[in-house]
Amino acid sequence: MNVELLRSSLKRAKDENGGLDALGLRFYGRLFERYPTVKSLFHTPAEEQQKKLMASLGAIVASVENPQKLLPFLHAMGVRHIQYKTEDAHYPAVSENLVAVLKEHLSNEGEWTPELQDTWEQALVAVSTIMMEAANRPELFREELKLAGYDEHGFRETKAPASNVTDPKLEPSFTIGAEN
Ligand code: HEM
Repeated sequence: MNVELLRSSLKRAKDENGGLDALGLRFYGRLFERYPTVKSLFHTPAEEQQKKLMASLGAIVASVENPQKLLPFLHAMGVRHIQYKTEDAHYPAVSENLVAVLKEHLSNEGEWTPELQDTWEQALVAVSTIMMEAANRPELFREELKLAGYDEHGFRETKAPASNVTDPKLEPSFTIGAEN
């Protein structure tokens, strides 16, 4: 997978067309328009929720080469999503929606290419698969999560800021552990 393409396009998304806040708000706007049945699962205001989603994407993209950090992060996120009442069938909708809003956002000031489309789709299939594996069999990941400092529900055991990612490419606001 072309990780540099993921990184450069997310950086563009930050710099262009109203930045990540605009992208994040559009994500929820379009999600609820196209997939109204998922709306009732969300309780946090979109203004706040979108920041968490965008931060998680940044953390994921920053630590792709660091699976020993990224996998527990994604497994914990998958396990937390059990509590949000997420179903496997929702993942393709969320991924489709994210690719569509990225395309809209990036096409406004620059170019959206078939390669960008493929790369984001592949990345989101991978992320969704890893999250769903943990959501469907949380007992298999309990030990891994514990070692990585998460409780059995996938939440951080302490509120101390996570300093488990030292990748210099990481943006300060995109820190694994930002979900707390
Ligand atoms: C690419 C996959 C996904 C990513 C990266 C992602 C990311 C996040 C993040 C970062 C949060 C904030 C809370 C936390 O970190 O625990 C969150 C919450 C949530 N997500 Fe996801 N998510 C994904 C897929 C989904 C899917 C498929 C659904 C189903 C509709 C979903 C529904 C929710 C809900 C309902 C919440 C809680 C919202 C609230 O507090 O009101 N997510 N997600």
